[in-house]
Amino acid sequence: MKLEVTGLTKCYGTTRALDGLTLPVESARVLVLIGPSGGGKSTLLRVLGGLEMADGGTVKINGHALLPDAAALQAYRRKNGFLFQQFNLFPHLTAHRNISLPLEKVHGHAPVRAREIAAQALDRFGLLDHADKLPAQLSGGQQQRVGIARAVAHQPEVLFLDEPTSALDPEMTAEVLELIQELAEAGQDIILSTHEMGFARAVADQVAFVAAGKIEELSPPAGLFGAPRSALCQRFLSRVMRY
Ligand SMILES: Nc1ncnc2c1ncn2[C@@H]1O[C@H](COP(=O)(O)OP(=O)(O)OP(=O)(O)O)[C@@H](O)[C@H]1O
Ligand SMILES: [Mg+2]
Repeated sequence: MKLEVTGLTKCYGTTRALDGLTLPVESARVLVLIGPSGGGKSTLLRVLGGLEMADGGTVKINGHALLPDAAALQAYRRKNGFLFQQFNLFPHLTAHRNISLPLEKVHGHAPVRAREIAAQALDRFGLLDHADKLPAQLSGGQQQRVGIARAVAHQPEVLFLDEPTSALDPEMTAEVLELIQELAEAGQDIILSTHEMGFARAVADQVAFVAAGKIEELSPPAGLFGAPRSALCQRFLSRVMRY
């Protein structure tokens, strides 16, 4: 994917969540956002995914400009896939129905076809055994994998993941990260935020260090993790990589 993001601003009351953020990415399969809590990663993901409008600045993804038009934004959101750190699934619906319902209601598939696609998505990620379970009957890692299966069932142009493993223990984290890696290897364009630095390094084509509403540093992982240029990024990495 190609990103042309210039001068993004977004305020919540007096908080400047995005402060003139500029992010030029010529070509990347997987863009990973890292940085301190409150730096603006989630806000940036919501704006890039069309879930929220910035107050100022411009966004183009693959040459397509995001315009402040409700219908255009809705159409844009439909082309993409989303997963957040928790509370992704409808608690009263089975894993299978969690996937087939949006295929019917949002993507306009006939019920029979929606059920077929949902079963294929569960099968692809080794989740068929869990098709008839409610989210509460699944482990956190399984829930997130169902969430990802749902997010990619309609073959999104870009998959947006906001800290998809932050609520999981290490083993469940590993199973979700493996699935994300598989998707990337299969050619899925992904923009994700994470605090898993080892994973960021392994899966990213480009890593953006986001702090105080700006991109402090943007580079392929070897450069950013091996020899960060910005003092803020150096300090952040030396703290999070210490343990
Ligand atoms: N809906 C909101 N209402 C008010 N303030 C918000 C809202 N969303 C974000 N903020 C503020 O905007 C700033 C950026 O928040 P954001 O959630 O984008 O950071 P983040 O980098 O994702 O942090 P974390 O790593 O903790 O998830 C923070 O100061 C946050 O408190
Ligand atoms: Mg966040």
